[in-house]
Amino acid sequence: MNKILFGKTKTGAEVYKYSIENSKGMKAVIMDFGATIVDLYVPDKDGNFRDVCLGYDDVTAYEKETTYFGAIVGPYANRISDAKIEIDGIEYQLDTNDNENNLHSGYNSMAKNVWTVKEHTHNKIVFSYKNPHLAQGFPGNMTVDVAYEINEVNQLSIAYHGVSDQKTTFNMTNHTYFNLNGWDSGSVYGHELMVKASGYTPVKSPKAIPTGEVASVEGTPFDFRVAKPIGRDIDEDYEQLIFGQGYDHNFALDKEADGVEKIAEVYAPESGIVMDVETDCIGIQLYTGNFMEGQIGKKGHLHHRREGFCLETQYYPNSINEPNFVCPITEAGEAYETVTIYGFRVK
Ligand code: BGC
Repeated sequence: MNKILFGKTKTGAEVYKYSIENSKGMKAVIMDFGATIVDLYVPDKDGNFRDVCLGYDDVTAYEKETTYFGAIVGPYANRISDAKIEIDGIEYQLDTNDNENNLHSGYNSMAKNVWTVKEHTHNKIVFSYKNPHLAQGFPGNMTVDVAYEINEVNQLSIAYHGVSDQKTTFNMTNHTYFNLNGWDSGSVYGHELMVKASGYTPVKSPKAIPTGEVASVEGTPFDFRVAKPIGRDIDEDYEQLIFGQGYDHNFALDKEADGVEKIAEVYAPESGIVMDVETDCIGIQLYTGNFMEGQIGKKGHLHHRREGFCLETQYYPNSINEPNFVCPITEAGEAYETVTIYGFRVK
């Protein structure tokens, strides 16, 4: 149940790291700045523990960089076109931070602020954040709780709960960059990925706003229904990959029902580590770290592009504005709830 001082933000707020673990030795270190996963230790095929998430050694880097390593992103992950939303005929202008668009709710969103710890036991921690009305432009005084818990079968679950005093939108995610061989082991090309999705949402341009279509993955580099190495098709001469400089796209998951189910699996042959992803979300963004270059990570490690991958569970990007997509709207007082589980085993 430890808590240690990690550093201070530029405005002088203290930032603490907390750890949670199970009796098997799986352990996560999570800080209150952005409710961010800093380290995640899981056993490899030889029983040695590897830290499988990318991170930084100081708070300043987390504050400054736009990689969102390990952070909770909210209230609305991914892109919103023209940084504008309309709810009940009222238009809200959001912060712009990605050309004319809003990405991950803007520069000063909850990923970039210190959260409160509500509960902390040996294997569970609950963070809470209050997003005031019109912060980053979003309507409603929002209260968000995020619970991280590690169970005895090496699953890390992330449960989100949001509520607002006005009708608003919630679409939250966790932005961990995984490298199942360890954060300092180079590109993720050799990781074998399966995503249960027969459709994905193509984007209009490099600015990555979806066209509104759900396109079939059949015969495209986006077909991960049967596991294949992430690097196999990533540099194909395919317009969508050129727009994203690799994979930076949302998959339309083939869900069996509304509840939590397994929708993705990643296997790293070198470490033998397998990650299973379960969620109740309808979409997942695969981002292969295409825009990462030159960040100084843990222990001074210089990161290059594609040294980590993100599997960000969420509603489809820009779903608040795109009539073809399920629209994430939450009434005043209504609970927004979603769960994603990252499970680890070896083979
Ligand atoms: C986005 C990328 C972006 C990255 C870091 C991902 O979720 O899809 O386009 O570069 O986050 O901000």
